[in-house]
Order: sequence, then structure tokens, then C-alpha cells
Amino acid sequence: MTKRKPIKKAVFPVAGLGTRFLPATKVIPKEMLPVIDRPLIQYAVDEAREAGIEQMIFVTGRGKTAIVEHFDVAFELETMMSERGKDLSILEPTRAVPGDIITVRQQVPLGLGHAIWCARAIVGDDPFAIFLPDELMIGSPGCMKQMVEAYNEVGGNLISVLEIPREEVSSYGVIDPGEENGALTVVKGLVEKPPVEQAPSNKIISGRYILQPEVMRTLENQEKGAGGEIQLTDAMARMIGSQPFHAVTFEGRRFDCGSKTGFIEATIALALEREDMGAEIRAITERLLGR
Ligand code: G1P
Repeated sequence: MTKRKPIKKAVFPVAGLGTRFLPATKVIPKEMLPVIDRPLIQYAVDEAREAGIEQMIFVTGRGKTAIVEHFDVAFELETMMSERGKDLSILEPTRAVPGDIITVRQQVPLGLGHAIWCARAIVGDDPFAIFLPDELMIGSPGCMKQMVEAYNEVGGNLISVLEIPREEVSSYGVIDPGEENGALTVVKGLVEKPPVEQAPSNKIISGRYILQPEVMRTLENQEKGAGGEIQLTDAMARMIGSQPFHAVTFEGRRFDCGSKTGFIEATIALALEREDMGAEIRAITERLLGR
């Protein structure tokens, strides 16, 4: 196995307005909505840490400071809890190592590609990960850890993919798949939000990426793509051929927390599995269903 430059940085685009969850997201960033008792952003950050990532780069915008506060030390809260003899371990994953949370701003919502490009100075010349926190990935190991393991084998660029019903592909980035080898598929092409009849497959990009820093140069003079936005998918597509590009089929479950129904599904699924409440939630659900 060749020694690869390790993935130590991750970019989290969190500048989106979250209009699909209004009025809940009028003041609260959508990334702070909790699935049970953990905000969505924390699932992504925990997944990053599990994969060995240290620097978390948030691409934020107006009204998003709660995300950064969440990973700070809440001094008054902790003091009060210690004085009352309460266990502080629940807060442990929210205390970032000093200096490991970095924010950059995306002042205007010009698209996902533009959001990632806003982090170019922090990413520098290192390969880096991207997490779209709307996509909640539950696996053991987590999605990014599975990808880092694949990256250590093949290097280059990797995206996580999953298969969905063909009629739904036009909401996503879709891959043109080449040769398959276990969980790895060679990516021959990528297209953002194609009409169903033009989609090269039903394998969609599911919100996790490991990319080489050259993508920032590609994004530099990127034209607008699907939906009039600067698309990350278009920049990645331009790198195919000059750098290795693979898709990893994630072994685990994915919840689309960008939609209300997906969010509720995630909440129910994870609650049913929790040791502290699973049995109770099952009983409640069955009662509600009249069983
Ligand atoms: C983005 C990406 C798309 C990907 C999707 C996953 O789209 O552009 O390629 O499949 O996330 O959720 P968005 O949901 O921001 O429109």
C-alpha cells in the first residue's frame, strides 16, 4: 500500500438558508436541528473525527454562529454542571481542540462549488474531505472512515455513492460508472441533476467527498451549471482523466435530512435503536399505529 498524504481537513458547507424547514430555521441554522439530542452538524463532525480528520472548516453565512458556538467550551454551563455534580461527558464531542474549528464565509449563495472554493486558502495544497451535513450517514465504520480506507488504497478523488430509484435521480449528482471492484467503482463521468432519461445510471453522489486540492483551481473559473449555480459536480467532472476518480458504495444507512420526511425517518430509526429509549419508542409507535 502506497503512503498517501493523510486526510486531516474537512470542509462543511453550512451557509444554506434552510428554507425547506421554515419557520423552524428562521433563527436556528438547519444544521443545528437535532436528530433526537444531537444536532445534525455534530453527526457529521463525529464521523469526520472517527475518520482521523482534525481540522473542521465551516463555510458559513449570516445567522450561522450557533454552529461555531456549539463546538466551543460553554464555560458557565460546565461550571454550573460540575458544581451540581453532573456528568460532563455528554459535552466531550462538542469541545473542539483549540484551533481546529475554522470558519470562512460564503457571502452570496452561488452554489455548492462556490461554497467549497471559499475554503481554498485553508485547504491549501492538501487533499481534503467534504461533508454535506444534510446527508446523515450511519455506519460502522462510518462513511468517511470507509472512504479513507479506500483512499489509502487507490488515492486520487473519491465520492460516496448509493443507488436510488431511477425516477429520483434528477435531484442529485449522478455518476457514469466504469469498472467495479468490490465497493469501488471507477467514475467515467459525472452529471449534476440530469433529466431522468439522460442520467447515465441510478448511482447518486451522497454527500461525502475526498478531493485533491486541484479541484480548487478548477472551481476558480467555473461556469454556472445546473440551476444557475456553480456546481462542485461540474468541477469534479473536469478532473476525470487527469486524476484517478472512484466511487465508494457506502455500507450502511443514509437518511436524507434535507427533507422533512427523511429527517423524521432518521429520528424514528435512531430512536428505535437507542438503548435508553428504544423499547419505549417502539411501544409509542405501535400505539400510534393502533396495533
Ligand atoms: C448536492 C450535490 C449533489 C449531491 C447532493 C447530495 O446537491 O450538488 O451532487 O447528489 O448534494 O445530497 P443539493 O442537494 O445541494 O442540491
